[in-house]
Amino acid sequence: MSESDMPKIIGYSTIGALLGVIGGTIVIGLLLPGLPLLGLISRLFNWLFALDTVQALWYITRAAGIIAYLLLWLSTAWGLAVSSKIFDPLLHRAFTYDMHQFISLVAIGFTILHIVVLFADQYLPFSVPQVLIPFIAPYRPIWVGIGIIGMYLTLLVTVTFYFRRWIGQKTFRVIHLASFLAYAAVTVHGLMAGTDSVLLATQLMYAGSALAIVFLTVYWLVMMLQNKTTAPAVANAPVYRRS
Ligand code: HEM
Repeated sequence: MSESDMPKIIGYSTIGALLGVIGGTIVIGLLLPGLPLLGLISRLFNWLFALDTVQALWYITRAAGIIAYLLLWLSTAWGLAVSSKIFDPLLHRAFTYDMHQFISLVAIGFTILHIVVLFADQYLPFSVPQVLIPFIAPYRPIWVGIGIIGMYLTLLVTVTFYFRRWIGQKTFRVIHLASFLAYAAVTVHGLMAGTDSVLLATQLMYAGSALAIVFLTVYWLVMMLQNKTTAPAVANAPVYRRS
């Protein structure tokens, strides 16, 4: 096992174990509420997440939406940091690159949860076309439509990780630029479609995360321009040899 594999394996297994424990507790607590301890857990979950109310699934879709948004933000910020070589003095490039890909996949996982729960929701159920075709949703169609476009762009950018060898570095980079649009789309979507956007904490979350992306984008552009101006100068620099 190489050194760069270690943090990946430790990271995956810890996340897997944590999700397993949380998921298992929820499932057991819900399936076997008759047992005293499990009944207590189920009541605790009902009290915490209102699982026994008609809005339960609406709460879950909103929570999954916020987690997906934060992960997509992290993936965008991480990608900009990797391209600007911010991590290079601290972390192995193979690790930072794998991590970027991993965060994008987990973001897609939570987006899928965010969407799938909408089908089962009793409060405001969505049909399959309504989550796949932009602007026909039964709820805030324009803002949900922008979220659907953001989802397609995220999928497009993430899929190209796996075709990089075939499409070439240049095409990969051009397609990757769509991640800016994807991030902008899901930010507008979350802010305008979200029930929680009236809360100050949620507004601060959107403002803070967007500011971080603006800052990292400017830094990335400056680094790119600097590389472009220094690269030809280095290439054209006279080579001094000892005679
Ligand atoms: C097919 C694509 C999508 C559909 C149909 C969809 C649907 C919805 C709906 C109906 C809401 C309103 C829920 C509420 O009242 O808060 C919502 C909110 C939200 N969505 Fe999406 N969404 C999609 C894609 C995405 C994506 C890709 C992300 C992020 C990566 C995302 C993140 C959010 C966030 C953060 C909220 C706000 C939650 C809140 O404030 O409570 N959505 N979405």
